[in-house]
Amino acid sequence: MADCDGEGAQTPLQLYERLTAQGDQVRALKSAKAEKTEIESAVQLLLKLKVEYKQMTGQDYKAGCPPPENLTVPDNGPSAEGTADEDEVNPWNVTTTNAKGVDYDKLILRFGSSKIDKELVDRIEKVSGQKPHRFLRRGIFFSHRDMHQVLDAYEKHKGFYLYTGRGPSSEAMHVGHLIPFIFTKWLQDVFDIPLVIQLTDDEKYLWKDLSLEECYRFAVENAKDIIACGFDVNKTFIFSDLDYMGSSPQFYRNVVKIQKHVTFNQVKGIFGFTDSDCIGKISFPAIQAAPSFSNSFPHIFGERKDIQCLIPCAIDQDPYFRMTRDVAPRIGYPKPALLHSTFFPALQGAQTKMSASDVNSSIFLTDSPKQIKNKINKHAFSGGKDTVEEHRQFGGNAEVDVSFMYLTFFLEDDEQLEKIRQDYTSGALLTGELKKILIETLQPMIATHQERRKQVTEELVKQFMTPRPLNFNF
Ligand code: TYM
Repeated sequence: MADCDGEGAQTPLQLYERLTAQGDQVRALKSAKAEKTEIESAVQLLLKLKVEYKQMTGQDYKAGCPPPENLTVPDNGPSAEGTADEDEVNPWNVTTTNAKGVDYDKLILRFGSSKIDKELVDRIEKVSGQKPHRFLRRGIFFSHRDMHQVLDAYEKHKGFYLYTGRGPSSEAMHVGHLIPFIFTKWLQDVFDIPLVIQLTDDEKYLWKDLSLEECYRFAVENAKDIIACGFDVNKTFIFSDLDYMGSSPQFYRNVVKIQKHVTFNQVKGIFGFTDSDCIGKISFPAIQAAPSFSNSFPHIFGERKDIQCLIPCAIDQDPYFRMTRDVAPRIGYPKPALLHSTFFPALQGAQTKMSASDVNSSIFLTDSPKQIKNKINKHAFSGGKDTVEEHRQFGGNAEVDVSFMYLTFFLEDDEQLEKIRQDYTSGALLTGELKKILIETLQPMIATHQERRKQVTEELVKQFMTPRPLNFNF
């Protein structure tokens, strides 16, 4: 990765010290009430250094915890994706230097997927008979693989199933994590199809400094948030890898088949694994691939191996499924189709995605109305001008404004959203007013989620997580 501050190559310890100094600098600027732009650029640099540190050491930066002296620096980083002048997008990092966020059109070309164009959105509307979800109307789900094939199968009453997942790295999920689940729920409703949700507690154990017990507990806690999104218990199977892998011979057979057909060189190329990564990490992609094949779930699909799978996720997960699609025909299975979303940005700006490992970058599903208000008012990067006078005269820049970006994800009314964009751009709407609209949109949304989560009993979780037949008619 290119140096973000122009200094020479660094050791983990040098980078750690640089980060600590930058953290002090941010605090000093804040307490001296420095110019907003100065603080924001110091925060941006801090975020970039954190990403670089994680990439170099495989660990999150923690103040007061320097890296161990014997830490081996990977020779080609955790991912082979991205070069110095490209956006970096992989399951562990999402970074760009552009305040508008990742260049998604370029990413489509790089990843070799297809754009979700108007023709496809119209076709989804025609086939489902429903108004397209705002995520489709606004290009938030922007890329796909083989979605036309899925619709062809559906029209011929062949049906398909949905597969998505979550890596339970902590008890609280953030608002960005909701994006694929909200959309998956919509797909389940409009197409009336079965869904499997993988909780990769094994993955988090392998990647993070967590015990197996913690990862499993987070999986069950996260399942409650996922259930609170409104999935139909008769059509949804949620599973923890730690539980299901050992209890399903068919699932494990598929894992082994996949493992046999992918070489170490291939996963090194796709994921950037190195010789010092543990072998658990190296073989994990096969476990995330296996639910893409219908006979991994005999209690749902019997021995059928021909049922088309559709995977909604943010595009950071695509490397797993590029590998899966490459293997599928070689082991006699259909390739899974995909729908990719853009990233819900960090509060500090669209240069990075919202990520649970940076508390201040995220609004969590457990946040109180007051915390939501404070985080947005304090941290949400603004495209507004420095003074009210300038803002009224020149207008704000909605394209880099995080509050406006968040509204594009959550405000249902297209006309209201467009009016906000125009008013902000013309200067009629001030940053504080825009933030207020966002606060008033997110507070009730998260409060409703918390209310629904409270209704999720242990019994209901158990029901969702028990292997059993599901209702569907194809
Ligand atoms: P995880 O837990 O990192 O993320 C869960 C899902 O949320 C998406 N996501 C986001 N979407 C929009 N904006 C963001 N800021 C954001 N951050 C995360 C992810 O793309 C993902 O869809 N290894 C996976 C778990 C998994 C999985 C799957 C995900 C297993 N099988 C199949 C998708 C599909 C993980 O750790 O996800």
